[in-house]
Amino acid sequence: MLLEVKDLCLNIDKKQILSSVSFCVEKGDFAVLCGRNGAGKSQLLKIIKGLRKQSSGSIFISGQDLSRDRGERMKRIALVFQNADLQAVGETVEKDVAFGPENLGWDRKRIKERTDQVISLLGLEEKRHQRPATLSGGEKRKLAIAGTLAMDPDIILLDEPFVALDYPSVRTVLSSLVSLHRKGHTILIVSHEIEKFLAHTTRLLILKEGKITCQGRPEDCLDELREAEVYLPDLPFKELTWLTT
Ligand SMILES: Nc1ncnc2c1ncn2[C@@H]1O[C@H](COP(=O)(O)OP(=O)(O)O)[C@@H](O)[C@H]1O
Ligand SMILES: [Mg+2]
Repeated sequence: MLLEVKDLCLNIDKKQILSSVSFCVEKGDFAVLCGRNGAGKSQLLKIIKGLRKQSSGSIFISGQDLSRDRGERMKRIALVFQNADLQAVGETVEKDVAFGPENLGWDRKRIKERTDQVISLLGLEEKRHQRPATLSGGEKRKLAIAGTLAMDPDIILLDEPFVALDYPSVRTVLSSLVSLHRKGHTILIVSHEIEKFLAHTTRLLILKEGKITCQGRPEDCLDELREAEVYLPDLPFKELTWLTT
């Protein structure tokens, strides 16, 4: 099991935001967590990453209890924020991707190799000398994914990666994610726009009012999704994608 979250609780000002959340993501999974606005999805991702402290509960990575080791979690878990377009820090695409590895103190050769590899993985070769501000919405989001991937995390968490993207941009980001999954990367997406990509996923988690109400193979959970008031067109599972294959 790559990621295991066990009995995670979060209280803010006596209000219970997450109550005993437990789930797993296996190595190589393309998992999706959905739930209504305010269900606690973003808070959950921030806790897993180590940006926020849980009130109680445990987080294991590859069987190792890292519940109290936020530094190690920061290193091993990548998080692409919802407003990822604001995440760019480098003058050019290339420098932006290299920023994380530089901060980790890698040697020049390793940084160069990893930067080249990730830029090609995300299909950003032609943009590498461009300023991040000049990229399209979809390219900016791919850059945010590249920047976190550069640090060689065990798992990538993405908070609402398709929000505010137009049709071609959703497709470009989605095809990058599908290709990362095919290459063996482990991905956990938070999104309610599941009709855009559900067909590619391997595990579904539903969060309702701070509790996981369903966990399983997405094709087995379509009724639960409709009950959770997630928009789902009446299509066979395999057609729930915006990619034409
Ligand atoms: N800093 C905060 N202080 C108090 N309550 C918060 C804070 N951030 C989020 N919340 C509350 O936590 C709940 C879950 O929020 P969030 O994780 O952002 O939901 P989601 O991402 O599923 O839309 C909401 O009820 C929200 O009002
Ligand atoms: Mg959110």
